[in-house]
Amino acid sequence: MPGESLAARDDPEHKQMRAIFDAAFRPGRINELDSQVQALAYELLDAFVDDGHCNFVKQYAVPLPLIIICRQMGARQEDIWQIKEWTDAWFKGVGFGLTEEEVIWATEKEIEAQHYFQAIFERLREAPDGTLLSDLVNTVIPEWGRTLTDNELHAEMMQDTFVGGSETTTNALSAGIMLLSQNPRVWEKLKSDPDRYLKTFCEEVVRLESPVQGLTRTAKIDIELHGVKIPRGATLDVRFAAGNRDPERFECPNDIDLERPNAASHLGFSSGTHYCLGAPLARRELYWGFKAFIDRIENFRLSPGRNKLRHHPNYGLRALKSLYIDFTAR
Ligand code: HEM
Repeated sequence: MPGESLAARDDPEHKQMRAIFDAAFRPGRINELDSQVQALAYELLDAFVDDGHCNFVKQYAVPLPLIIICRQMGARQEDIWQIKEWTDAWFKGVGFGLTEEEVIWATEKEIEAQHYFQAIFERLREAPDGTLLSDLVNTVIPEWGRTLTDNELHAEMMQDTFVGGSETTTNALSAGIMLLSQNPRVWEKLKSDPDRYLKTFCEEVVRLESPVQGLTRTAKIDIELHGVKIPRGATLDVRFAAGNRDPERFECPNDIDLERPNAASHLGFSSGTHYCLGAPLARRELYWGFKAFIDRIENFRLSPGRNKLRHHPNYGLRALKSLYIDFTAR
């Protein structure tokens, strides 16, 4: 069984464990990754830019963050579609209303993934290689007097890094292109001056589409919030996506505003103790993901008759199934 993940822990264990993650994801390391992210974004786009059409999700939004996280988690780049099958199964398995067969299928996929990752943990224990996972495998948590166990590492691989760290960015990239296709004036303005507008656009995508729509919390004490009594033990459904469209917080909350002064103050990466560890990396992936698109694509539209714009049925994550676009290259 996977152990308890970072995201599922409370203080003081959360704080103690988070310290080794913060060290592994330190700003200097993320800066080092920036040039890799940039190069990969252009490489992926250049592979299909002459075709004039693509399935944006499959050809771009999935591989960009997944390859980056694979490289940092000791996995081989050629295995990304195998890994994607495992993370899709995990993601489906944490949804609701599954049949018994589906639960068994999702569990078997998770076990397959554990066999694959187990070999990587053992290799990195023998020969640390400076990647994020190498740090997570080999760093002792001082208060615990030990490194993470295999079971704890397995929980991290699925939940916090491969799903938390690639599925989410994939969904933000696809959502951004969908929003641009529906808001041509925003596209024109964005490409007229990416240096000025792109960072705000990235925040607006995460705010409006909220790849993580919400997560649950358990009340540890009886509490009253805004006149609502919440008993100890109650499950709270914290909807980041709803807060992100709060009209008291964001003027015209349903619009993409490339000049929104408080664009970055959304809840798309949560807030407080569990604030997204990967937000700086996600922001670099979104920046370069959209920048390469703007630099290579003159104009685009949704491919007629091919898009249903349906999302995977899931309670927590908002994931477009596919996005077919036709475009003219620059
Ligand atoms: C657009 C992309 C992303 C979005 C929208 C997103 C969103 C979130 C949210 C909402 C949480 C909070 C969970 C909570 O409050 O319980 C979270 C936590 C977390 N995220 Fe992200 N994330 C993204 C990208 C990434 C990346 C690239 C990584 C790393 C590779 C990552 C790693 C994590 C981890 C490890 C946590 C748990 C932090 C903790 O509990 O202390 N995320 N993320």
